[in-house]
Amino acid sequence: MGKMRTQSVRWRAAAVLASVLLVGGVAACGNSDTGGGGTKDDGKITMGFSQVGAESGWRTANTISIKEAATAAGIELKFDDAQQKQENQIKAIRNYIQQKVDVIAFSPVVESGWDTVLKEAKDAGIPVILTDRSVDSADKSLYKTFLGSDFVKEGKLAGEWLVEQKKTASGPVNIVELQGSTGAAPANDRKKGFAEAIAANPNLKVIASQTGDFTRAGGKQVMEQFLKANPKIDVLFAHNDDMGLGALEAITAAGKVPGKDITIITIDAVKDGMQALADGKFNFIAECSPLLGPQLMDLAKKVKDGQEVPARIETQETTFTSEQAKEALPNRKY
Ligand code: AHR
Repeated sequence: MGKMRTQSVRWRAAAVLASVLLVGGVAACGNSDTGGGGTKDDGKITMGFSQVGAESGWRTANTISIKEAATAAGIELKFDDAQQKQENQIKAIRNYIQQKVDVIAFSPVVESGWDTVLKEAKDAGIPVILTDRSVDSADKSLYKTFLGSDFVKEGKLAGEWLVEQKKTASGPVNIVELQGSTGAAPANDRKKGFAEAIAANPNLKVIASQTGDFTRAGGKQVMEQFLKANPKIDVLFAHNDDMGLGALEAITAAGKVPGKDITIITIDAVKDGMQALADGKFNFIAECSPLLGPQLMDLAKKVKDGQEVPARIETQETTFTSEQAKEALPNRKY
């Protein structure tokens, strides 16, 4: 009997202690919330980042840059790989909103369909930074800034180089185009920029254009189809190095010499692409830099501080011929 009473006293004491801790814990959480949107004000920055996927060498370099820069800046990074699916990105962003991160950053897999989730972030008081790719939302107040390349310019630079190379061509120059992922900003914009530039010479004609989804496997498979369907292909314009590298296999298997029988132009300038250019298998690359991490972390700090940031920050880039690739390769970081 005495033993049972002692036990019941212990249980009651434990219950009182638990409720004290619970109330204390809730109060502590309540204190750390900011009134407006509910992000934590503990001096530390937590960033929720939704990455497109791991589809290319460029993407891998971009992910490394973001993770390393977060560590260097002392920013806690919550990272999600969306496997090239918009629904996964929307889910990740909603999770970050629930977790009350300080800043959300993401590289949108496609341009359209973001308004609802961006509005949810805005209503929760969480600033959003777009990096690498932008969205087509009319309401620019849904995000703080867009840090990334000018993809139209990249396509234009690729096209202008070709116009110069083929200025003495007396007959039609047949071009095939490997597009990036359907609906993605770099696919839409590079196609546009390239078409605008080659319009300067009516001999230059895109005879086939299809998506290779920014992957090597996609580039190889679509190039095989192009080669079967078109007996005369003079030029390949691939929206990234990886698709160009995949296409190399298809071209070689078809008994043609890449870089000679077919002129190859790509975008990115990752190491493998630069090696193919130095080896004469590619002919020209317009650069797209994936090293966005340090600038992104700097922006996150400013945005968290409530500082004004420019609405658009364009990445500085260049182009490479084979000779320039040979020179640049030894110091290429990615
Ligand atoms: O958005 C940048 C593009 O996405 C890169 O050119 C490509 O390689 C990547 O997959």
